[in-house]
Amino acid sequence: MNTSWQSSSKWYNRLVGDQGHYYHEHIILPNVLKLLNLNLNSKILDIGCGQGILAKKINPQISYVGIDLAKSLIEVAQKSNKNPNHKFLKLDATKPLNGFNSEFTHAVAILSLQNMENLDSVIKNVANVLKEDGKFILVLNHPAFRIPRQSGWGIAENKIQYRYVNNYMSDLKIPIQMHPGEKSSEITWSFHHPISYYFKLLKQYGFLVEDLQEWVSDKKSEEGKVSKMENHARAEIPLFMTLVAIKK
Ligand SMILES: C[S@@+](CC[C@H](N)C(=O)[O-])C[C@H]1O[C@@H](n2cnc3c(N)ncnc32)[C@H](O)[C@@H]1O
Repeated sequence: MNTSWQSSSKWYNRLVGDQGHYYHEHIILPNVLKLLNLNLNSKILDIGCGQGILAKKINPQISYVGIDLAKSLIEVAQKSNKNPNHKFLKLDATKPLNGFNSEFTHAVAILSLQNMENLDSVIKNVANVLKEDGKFILVLNHPAFRIPRQSGWGIAENKIQYRYVNNYMSDLKIPIQMHPGEKSSEITWSFHHPISYYFKLLKQYGFLVEDLQEWVSDKKSEEGKVSKMENHARAEIPLFMTLVAIKK
């Protein structure tokens, strides 16, 4: 199946812009840059790079390759970034990444793995192009709390805002209507796996997970009874889960 964001590329490019969308800018990109800890000898592969937001945030002297299945997003990235150290290629991360040896010191997937159908092949392909001791950073919508159509907020009788989660252990393939309520019928796909599945595949392809981080929203609702409850829930239920895996 085609999991490319080609048909949503205009909307997505506008959403991300030059600085990233809200969570990119405030949480994901600053944390990813810290975890990457790049230096001038680094060579980084960005898997499902979208319109190339990460490339704009790294030292321009560092070698960067971004791959994505959506041709139009790759074209936007190429047009807006003429740095000769940066390459953007239309490639399917689930297919063998021919043309690359074990040459990358870093690989990163920012909110893209859950949009790819065959996670097993993606992890295998990344393992094949990373150097020994290379670092792979996987940024995910938290699989334990944010499963599209299977999780959400509720308010209990005792006025606790809680998170409900259904079907956590099952592998799921979930269609996402990109603009609910509008006529447009753009659909993307989301693939859910329990956290243990990520660890299983990383282990299978020779990675050692050295860190797991959980990032919460930094948004705050205005003063008041309801907002106190919302702010508490935001601070206690993470949005993102990030794994740092080292190729052995
Ligand atoms: C949520 S977007 C994230 C893009 C980017 N990392 C960012 O943070 O803005 C997910 C991306 O994964 C890409 N994608 C989906 N399946 C893919 C595949 N098999 N190979 C490469 N990219 C894929 C989509 O085209 C889309 O651009």
